[in-house]
Amino acid sequence: MQALASQGVMTFALELMPRISRAQSMDILSSQSNLAGYKAVVDAAATFGRAMPMMMTAAGTIAPARVLVFGAGVAGLQAIATAKRMGAVVYATDVRYATKEQVESLGGKFIVVDEEKMKAAQTAGGYAKEMDDDFKRKQAEAVRAEVAKSDILITTALIPGKPAPRLVAGDVVALMKAGSVIVDLAAEAGGNVEGTVKDQMVTTANGVTILGYTNMSARLGRDASSLFSKNILNFITLMLEKGTGNLKINWDDELIKGTLVTKDGHIVHPSLV
Ligand code: NAI
Repeated sequence: MQALASQGVMTFALELMPRISRAQSMDILSSQSNLAGYKAVVDAAATFGRAMPMMMTAAGTIAPARVLVFGAGVAGLQAIATAKRMGAVVYATDVRYATKEQVESLGGKFIVVDEEKMKAAQTAGGYAKEMDDDFKRKQAEAVRAEVAKSDILITTALIPGKPAPRLVAGDVVALMKAGSVIVDLAAEAGGNVEGTVKDQMVTTANGVTILGYTNMSARLGRDASSLFSKNILNFITLMLEKGTGNLKINWDDELIKGTLVTKDGHIVHPSLV
């Protein structure tokens, strides 16, 4: 950023886009996370050596897969919806209590850890706060048995600007059945699961496969590029004068102020100065 500033380049970072309704069409994190959440479940299903839905056949009944999703943001909610559509039984948890209703509206079962702390876990911008050790301990206890019963675990928990919270310890992964699959969408930020290896597929000693792929939306490259470019077009259109198409930036616009990083030789974004 310093190099860009010193060259006089004006820089906007779209990942800093405020999470408000008017910005939704320019929100690159949402457009890409949504695809990542979908692809995580598709990858998990392809790796899992069993079927997802319940099947009652003359040769016997197949139980539905149990899927547990950590983090019910954009990626997590799409993962829940996708796993439900495939016929799995879906559980989910998040630190933000507001997500309970969203999870339930998609047919997922929500695991509550500590209602009071969860109600205070959301920032004004809608993001999660980092939780204290007491909450982390309670969360680990609350989900331990659920993780052990799960066939597929999708983890998406992120805290902006911080390493991803460690939610599933190695001894909990060791409780899972052989053949279970974990997709750790937080791999890029250090991973939510102990044992995740960035950009690798690894299998633990007890036969659990952990997928740690990063840039997940690129695995659906055509859709990812199409949505990403539309986000950029919508953002640039915001800076153009209607009718003439001339560049006319409204510096007081919340979306411009929220994303502007370098201008007139300086780094100007409040989170970076
Ligand atoms: P994110 O990618 O930053 O994090 C993913 C999820 O992990 C979040 O739901 C977060 O609460 C959860 N999480 C963090 N720490 C956790 C922990 N220790 N245990 C369990 N879960 C944990 O979140 P994302 O997807 O970017 O969404 C953030 C918020 O922004 C949401 O409230 C979403 O509804 C809102 N949003 C608003 C938009 C708009 O109005 N333009 C667009 C997109 C999202």
